[in-house]
Amino acid sequence: MKNIKLNDKIFEYEKSQKELNKEISRSLDDLENFGFSKIPFSLNKNTLTIINNFLEEESISLQDENDNKFHGKNVGITTSLHTKCLECLEISLSKELCFFADQFFEEGSYPGDINRYQVELMHSRTIFGKAKEQTLHIDSRLCGVRPYLMIHFFIYLTDCIEVGSGATQFVPKSHTFNRYSNKEDEKDAVQVYGKAGTIIALNSSTFHGSSKKTNNGNRSIITLAYSRWWIRQQWAVPYVEHWPKKLSEEEKYLLGFYNYADSTPEKRGSLTSRGNLPLLILKD
Ligand SMILES: [Fe+2]
Repeated sequence: MKNIKLNDKIFEYEKSQKELNKEISRSLDDLENFGFSKIPFSLNKNTLTIINNFLEEESISLQDENDNKFHGKNVGITTSLHTKCLECLEISLSKELCFFADQFFEEGSYPGDINRYQVELMHSRTIFGKAKEQTLHIDSRLCGVRPYLMIHFFIYLTDCIEVGSGATQFVPKSHTFNRYSNKEDEKDAVQVYGKAGTIIALNSSTFHGSSKKTNNGNRSIITLAYSRWWIRQQWAVPYVEHWPKKLSEEEKYLLGFYNYADSTPEKRGSLTSRGNLPLLILKD
């Protein structure tokens, strides 16, 4: 396995490089065998502070109860973080998380395939105070199918270190089940705890959902997903006025900008769906 050199502007890991390689290998095995895995490095304190401050400024508010049947009451969601916050964009494009995605999408790709996957979405979800558990579900909506189509990363932005903290729960090996989740599966679900900054990789066909939250205070999590390039992004990256930074060609591919029939707004004949974006379209 090649070395992963951590970008310490964003991530942290306290042990040696050798130990990191060993733990990444273990984490990839767990992802394959159980359908989810805590990954050995985490967001560093500085990044966490910036993102939490950003979310506070966004003033996430409770969604309309009618819009919120699936996520439950007491939940607020902020969408497309990678278009609004530089640190979130850097996480979505990071070599470290893409290393996991590279392995995940290898099966089902021809050896010569490049740009095998794209950033699917990056949202945050905050639970305010107490809340009931989320129904177990799979995000890919495909059960028991290989090769797998999506990988998720859940990043805790607040501590989830005990029962009642709303930690995400998973049903081990359920990514291999040729059926959807039901109430009975709840008894097999295991909660994964971690301090703020913890990152969990998830096969998007694994049964999961947030557990019951009985303590006070907010619980925030980032959901970041990557999907195979030939799947339409369920959440197309919106063009907004103030992008966090200029992108390289490679990064544009990763964000899915070229996964459309014509690659420029002029060729598409429409500026409405994917118009020119300041600082993104490089001038020849
Ligand atoms: Fe989910």
